[in-house]
Amino acid sequence: DAKWKLADHPKLPKGKPVAVVVLDGWGEANADQYNCIHTAETPTMDSLKKGAPERWRLVRAHGTAVGLPTEDDMGNSEVGHNALGAGRIFAQGAKLVDLALESGKIYEGEGFKYIQESFANGTLHLIGLLSDGGVHSRLDQLQLLLKGVSERGVKRVRVHILTDGRDVLDGSSVGFVETLENDLAKLREKGIDARIASGGGRMHVTMDRYENDWNVVKRGWDAQVLGEAPHKFKSALEAVKKLRAEPKANDQYLPPFVIVDDNGKAVGPIVDGDAVVTFNFRADRMVMIAKSLEYEDFDKFDRVRFPKIRYAGMLQYDGELKLPSHYLVSPPEIDRTSGEFLVHNGVRTFACSETVKFGHVTFFWNGNRSGYFNKQLEEYVEIPSDIGITFNVQPKMKALEIAEKARDAILSRKFDQIRVNLPNGDMVGHTGDIEATVVACKAADEAVKMILDAIEQVGGIYVVTADHGNAEDMVKRDKSGKPLLDKEGKIQILTSHTLQPVPIAIGGPGLAPGVRFRNDVPDGGLANVAATVMNLHGFVAPSDYETTLIEVVDK
Ligand code: 3PG
Ligand code: CO
Repeated sequence: DAKWKLADHPKLPKGKPVAVVVLDGWGEANADQYNCIHTAETPTMDSLKKGAPERWRLVRAHGTAVGLPTEDDMGNSEVGHNALGAGRIFAQGAKLVDLALESGKIYEGEGFKYIQESFANGTLHLIGLLSDGGVHSRLDQLQLLLKGVSERGVKRVRVHILTDGRDVLDGSSVGFVETLENDLAKLREKGIDARIASGGGRMHVTMDRYENDWNVVKRGWDAQVLGEAPHKFKSALEAVKKLRAEPKANDQYLPPFVIVDDNGKAVGPIVDGDAVVTFNFRADRMVMIAKSLEYEDFDKFDRVRFPKIRYAGMLQYDGELKLPSHYLVSPPEIDRTSGEFLVHNGVRTFACSETVKFGHVTFFWNGNRSGYFNKQLEEYVEIPSDIGITFNVQPKMKALEIAEKARDAILSRKFDQIRVNLPNGDMVGHTGDIEATVVACKAADEAVKMILDAIEQVGGIYVVTADHGNAEDMVKRDKSGKPLLDKEGKIQILTSHTLQPVPIAIGGPGLAPGVRFRNDVPDGGLANVAATVMNLHGFVAPSDYETTLIEVVDK
C-alpha cells in the first residue's frame, strides 16, 4: 500500500533489533536529597549519560512540546506516549476542551444535544476528578460546564467527585470541594437544584485503568448509581474533612461516600431518564466506567440496576471501540502513528509492561486505539500488576519480569522492535514515599541493564528514554527552587509529575559508528523520538513527522 510505504534511510541498515525502553516518571533534575534518581544506585543510566552529547541528551516532555495548553502544564503519560508513538504534536484533550468551552462549540455538538434531551425531566450527573492538575480533568472546565448547562435548561445537577492528591498536593481536595460547593450554592440561588451527591479517592473509586481491578469501578458504581456507600454524610466538605482525619488517610485513597438528606436518603443516585457526563478528558482511567455506563452486555461486576440514561464522555476515550458513542468534544485525531507505519513496512513488534502501564506502550503509543494493527507481526504482553496495594509497599513492582520478557523477546530474534515501559519511578513516585521511590529507581535501572545486555548479545540497538518527570523531584518548590514548607514547617511532598526534561540515550553494537545526536534540534521533545526510531529501523520518517534527533557522519 503506497500510502504506508516508508523510504529507505540512505545510510542506516534495516534488520537490527531495536529496544525502545520508556522509564515512566524519570526526569532530569539537580542532584539533591529529593531527587530519588540521584540518591538511588543507577549505574546503567549513569553510564548512558557519559555518552553525552553524541549519544545522550535531554528532550522536552511537558507543556506545548506535548500538546498541552501552557508551559506550566507538567507532562503526563498519555500525552507523553502519544507524542512518542505518533511523532507529531497534537493539541491534546485539555486544550481541545478549553477551545470548545471558550468558543461555545461544546454546546452545539451532537453530544451535548443528546444529553440536553434529559434536562427537562431528568437530572444531569457529572462524574470526574476534582482538581486543577490538568492531567485527567480541570476544575475550571467543570466550572464553565456547570455555568453552560445552567444557561441551557438544566434543572437538577448532581456532581460525583473523585478526590485527587496525585496530580496535585495531598490535602488539596478540601479547597477544591469548597470551591465547588460555592459554585453549586450560586446555582441554587438561580433556582437550579445543584449538589454534590457522592465521592471517593480516585485510586480507590472509579478511576482504575487497563482492567487492573474492577472493584474500583464497582465501588464508584455503588455510590454514584445506586446511592450506596459505607460512609454517609450531610455534605461533601464534611465527608472529605472527616475521612481525611482517619489514620493514614489521603486524597488518592479516600473511601467511597454518599451525601444523604435529613431522612438518610442518598441525594443523587442515577436513575432512568437521567443524563450522565464523565468530565475527565483523559482516556485511560475513564474507559472502564464508560463501559459500565454504556454496555448493555456487561459481566465485570453486578450492576444491580442498569438505568436507562443518556451518557456522554467529555471526549471519546477509545477510538477503536468508539467508546463512548456520545461525547462533548472530539478527541485529537492521532492517526498514522509510527507503530502503524512500521508494521506496514514489515517491522515485527513486541510491546510489554505490567497492567498499570500496559496501555501506555500499546493504547497510548498507538494513538488511543486498543488492539493490534496486524496480529501476525505484533505481540503485546501484559504482566499482571499486584492489586490492592500501594506501590511503595512493592517498589520493585514487575520491573524484573518485564525485563525478562523483553530479554526473551530480543534473544528469540523474532522481533525488530522490542518496546517496554518500566513503571517504577512514576507509580512509586506518586505515593510520595521517598525511600520507596529510591528502591523503585534502582529496580528500573537493573531492568534497563538486563535489556541492554540482551541487545548486546544480538548486536542490536537501544533507545532509552522517559515519558515525563516524577521521581527526580519529590518536593514542592517555590519559584527559586527552594522546598516549600507547610504551616507546621514540614516540607510539602510532591506526589505529582514535574516540568523537567527527560533523557534519551542511544547505543548498542548495532548502531552504525557515525550515528550521533544532531546539535541543531536544541528544543527537541518526545515527538522527535518516533522519526529517530524509524531511522534506527532503516527508514526515513514521513515528512510531516517532527524531525529526527540523529544524524550520520562519516567515520
Ligand atoms: C495517573 O493517572 O496515575 C496520574 O494522574 C498520572 O500518571 P501517568 O500520566 O504517569 O499515568
Ligand atoms: Co504518573
